[in-house]
Amino acid sequence: MDAERRSPHLPAMTPGEVRIREEFVGLDVDAVTALRALRPWMEEHVHEVVEEFYRHLMRFEEPRRLLHDPQVLARIKAAQTEYILSLTECNVDTSYIAGRLMIGRTHERVGITPQWYLGAYSTFARILFPRIMMHYRDQPATAMAAIKGLVAIMHLDTQLAIDAYVHAAHAELQQQAVDLKNDVASQIDELAKGNRQLETLYRVSSVASQELDLEKVLESTLPHISEIVGASGAEVFLMDEEGYLAYAASHGLAEEYVRRSRALRLHTDQCLLGRVFATQTTVRVETLADQGEFLRRDMALACGYRALLSTPLIAQGTPLGTLQLYGQNERSCPPESHPLIHSIAEQLAVAIANARLHETVKESEAEYRSLVENTPRLIFRLDPYGRCVFVN
Ligand code: HEM
Repeated sequence: MDAERRSPHLPAMTPGEVRIREEFVGLDVDAVTALRALRPWMEEHVHEVVEEFYRHLMRFEEPRRLLHDPQVLARIKAAQTEYILSLTECNVDTSYIAGRLMIGRTHERVGITPQWYLGAYSTFARILFPRIMMHYRDQPATAMAAIKGLVAIMHLDTQLAIDAYVHAAHAELQQQAVDLKNDVASQIDELAKGNRQLETLYRVSSVASQELDLEKVLESTLPHISEIVGASGAEVFLMDEEGYLAYAASHGLAEEYVRRSRALRLHTDQCLLGRVFATQTTVRVETLADQGEFLRRDMALACGYRALLSTPLIAQGTPLGTLQLYGQNERSCPPESHPLIHSIAEQLAVAIANARLHETVKESEAEYRSLVENTPRLIFRLDPYGRCVFVN
């Protein structure tokens, strides 16, 4: 978890709450007086105290690892010196609290666990207390007051450090909950998307198996196809009887674009569509502006189309035409949508082949009917019982 993603706000405290904390740890007037009286001694000895503190820390592997950089070590020795001196200032107010919380937060952020941070206070106690007793060896009550004062202020500081750690852990948990919620939401989105894709595939395949009118096949499938892949529009070009690829239907495309596309008749060695048809391979054009092979490029760009995907429509190994999907940016029809597009194109091709077959059957039936009905001879059919079931 990136530490900066956690809430940067530390728990705030009112002056009343600060007073309760002081009272609870025993930071009373006597303690403050004793600590302030210790100031000159502290100024004189702070450096040896700090040196001994870090000597002790460096005996352990984890602090050694964290403090291996000499620059960092020099910086924190200076910060530590300031810190120890501040213990004898005792100006405990809301900005003192904020400063201590900040120190706790810095340690949490750089990965120093409470075990090391809080434990280090006992190191201070072991270094400071015998020296203070020695300093006040003739005034045991003053020594005791100074030590009590230090115990009080150090406890106040450790409480604040714990607050900072707890707050950070809480913020991290909250962030994890948000991440989890977003994760679940995006997985639900993905599932819903997958569902919609399956639905489209189902619709296209049910049209393929039921609808026999080519126009209706294209009219009812193209809107679903372009919606599911997020395209601005879709069109189908089909191979005509004379061997040209010609416009068959479209959905969502600009009127002028459609009008001019209708007039096109392409050879299979012409245009990007010809190549897609002849090689039976899908071509995705991320930047239409750079695609000179597509004959309608300028017109497409003028209509706001920036990307294109062209895929062959193949039924039982025979290419029937091409399906084009137009997008408004290079993210349209990304590679992960291609398996879906291919499945849809396969279903669509089957539907087109069925519709065409039906058309052929209808035409030959009409031809047969007119032949039979217009012949000058009598044609009739009898059933096995000799009954007449047809006569022209
Ligand atoms: C009594 C306990 C401790 C006190 C009072 C203390 C005090 C401080 C202070 C005042 C700072 C500067 C904070 C800031 O810039 O916001 C600091 C920073 C730091 N301390 Fe401590 N510290 C303690 C324990 C430890 C321990 C046990 C370690 C290592 C195991 C440690 C390692 C560090 C590090 C790595 C920094 C940050 C240095 C930087 O990159 O600026 N501290 N400490």
